[in-house]
Amino acid sequence: MRFDILTLFPDIFSGYLSQSLLKKAQDRGLVQVHLHNFRHWSWDRDRRVDDRPYGGGPGMVLRVEPVVECVEDVQAMAPEPGHVVLLTPQGERLTQELVEQLASRRRLILVCGRYEGFDERVRQILRPQEISIGDYVLNGGEVAAMVVVDAVIRLVPGVLGDEDSSSQDSFSGPQRLLEGPQYTRPREYRGLRVPEVLLSGDHEAIRRWREEQARKRTEKRRPDLLRGVDNPREAEA
Ligand code: ADE
Repeated sequence: MRFDILTLFPDIFSGYLSQSLLKKAQDRGLVQVHLHNFRHWSWDRDRRVDDRPYGGGPGMVLRVEPVVECVEDVQAMAPEPGHVVLLTPQGERLTQELVEQLASRRRLILVCGRYEGFDERVRQILRPQEISIGDYVLNGGEVAAMVVVDAVIRLVPGVLGDEDSSSQDSFSGPQRLLEGPQYTRPREYRGLRVPEVLLSGDHEAIRRWREEQARKRTEKRRPDLLRGVDNPREAEA
């Protein structure tokens, strides 16, 4: 899977890209990440990419030409057309279901905003999918783009080993429940014992216990998931 990330601050990504799972996935050729600084697509002598908003008001707006022309040139860098995503607090909220949809694409072009936002014509011309990682405002789309990459690569076949399979993650599976409690050694610590059923070797009993725990935890912490507020599949059922 190929990611093209368009940003004014490519250096923000270097630590993240060179670590752990993502590094391994790139080394193994499962994931490619290409960074592009859209400042290089500015026509200005001083390479400005932002300007004052027409009509007045605070802050600066990202200009249409560098963003659109950068996306067009980046599209041409690989034969596979990329699905264009704009990271913005005005977008559709990122959920595991949306992550699954994104992971089914072979190439994503993630466009990170800064300043007060994009010139509206960026949307009119590129017709991107707009995604928000939550109802709060970040200083730019870079952290949001990392969140998208991080969540998506977990679902790219081969990135996780079998034993780390993402199918047991919270929000995964048909019911989209939170994950229940997990334990590892020691069996007892400060008087707290690992539940007997997990030591029983009875796989069916363990499966049932885990399912019940997941449901209880979801009921307590995120009843909205059970009501189907964030889960249109259940709401329809
Ligand atoms: N850029 C600024 N805030 C954001 C958010 N919440 N999600 C995605 N991109 C953003």
